[in-house]
Amino acid sequence: MMKTRICVVFGGASSEHEVSCVSAASVLSHLSPDKYEITKIGITRDGRWLLYPGSADAMKTGEWEKDPGNLPCSILPDRTVKGVMVLGGDPGIRELDCIFPVLHGKNGEDGTIQGLFDLSGIPYVGCGVLASAVGMDKSFTKLVARSIGVTQAEYLVFRHYEFAKDPEGFLAEAEAKLGYPIFVKPANAGSSVGISKAKNRGDLEAAVALAFRHDRKIVLEETIVGRELETAVLGNEEPVAAVVGEVLPAEEFYSYDAKYNNAASTLVIPAELPAGVSDKIRATAVRIFQALDGRGLSRVDFFLREKDGEVVFNEINTLPGFTDISMYSKLFDAAGVPYGELVDRLVALALKEHGPAKA
Ligand SMILES: Nc1ncnc2c1ncn2[C@@H]1O[C@H](COP(=O)(O)OP(=O)(O)O)[C@@H](O)[C@H]1O
Ligand SMILES: [Mg+2]
Repeated sequence: MMKTRICVVFGGASSEHEVSCVSAASVLSHLSPDKYEITKIGITRDGRWLLYPGSADAMKTGEWEKDPGNLPCSILPDRTVKGVMVLGGDPGIRELDCIFPVLHGKNGEDGTIQGLFDLSGIPYVGCGVLASAVGMDKSFTKLVARSIGVTQAEYLVFRHYEFAKDPEGFLAEAEAKLGYPIFVKPANAGSSVGISKAKNRGDLEAAVALAFRHDRKIVLEETIVGRELETAVLGNEEPVAAVVGEVLPAEEFYSYDAKYNNAASTLVIPAELPAGVSDKIRATAVRIFQALDGRGLSRVDFFLREKDGEVVFNEINTLPGFTDISMYSKLFDAAGVPYGELVDRLVALALKEHGPAKA
């Protein structure tokens, strides 16, 4: 049997670079060498592309960047080639059957690299350009969710060039429409980077300034008091949702620290919920995924609002964390799809989607 030639792309010029390296090491440890011939491209924080010959373990610590065997490389946009061009060492083209991007956030989950993959003509795992870009941008995600009638937090979008003309007017509008506490987020970020919860005018001014350091567009939301629930979606034309999990953040909200540094943050899988609530979350997740033209995978996050038991959509992550302890893989494991089978299915979905259209 011919092995499928897969290229795992990891790291990235993103604030979520480290998480991506750990996620990719997990994915690699579950890609069977009997089925796949594996190439690895690491992208450094400053954006260099390196063909990396070393171990998955060294990816987790950042040591991979210093591997003397690393060679500069690039996936070629020339679709007659379908491969990666390697410079230095033994230069030349390595052909590929499938790309598995394990990148989070900017330059990896936002449609930019997906555009290059599309040009290359090489099938790739996960969402395409549009779903990635819309899923990454919290203001556009909200427009799509609203268009299909999904409940979400009240919100406002501030663009810097407008805000700068009348900060007082914008802040007063936020206070009147949303009431404290107000969540302030860069429109395009991830892992809670640049997000704050403002409890008064002083907080709000600082929160807005911080969010504008990460993006020229920011989103302000009313606070939803309730439980944080997440589900995982898998598939192309007929996506399915796994079980629902609950996040119990160790801090006041699920900040960067609570996500990655605070061992007291826990995941409960499956979440203890009435069947009706869990079904509603799973069905809503699939609707949002489809409304975005999602493909392959996504993790979709919700709140269960305390005051009325309403399911409130928070966000979609088109390339969610993929470590052994990440929600996405654990939710499918609990639904009867172990990690190894999950990656096989993602590769199969990529190859199917990029094959000839059905008549
Ligand atoms: N409107 C909100 N009400 C209550 N908590 C929120 C709200 N928005 C965000 N949070 C908290 O902040 C965390 C990060 O926000 P989120 O929008 O998920 O950003 P990211 O894309 O960085 O994960 C959430 O997991 C949750 O704990
Ligand atoms: Mg989130």
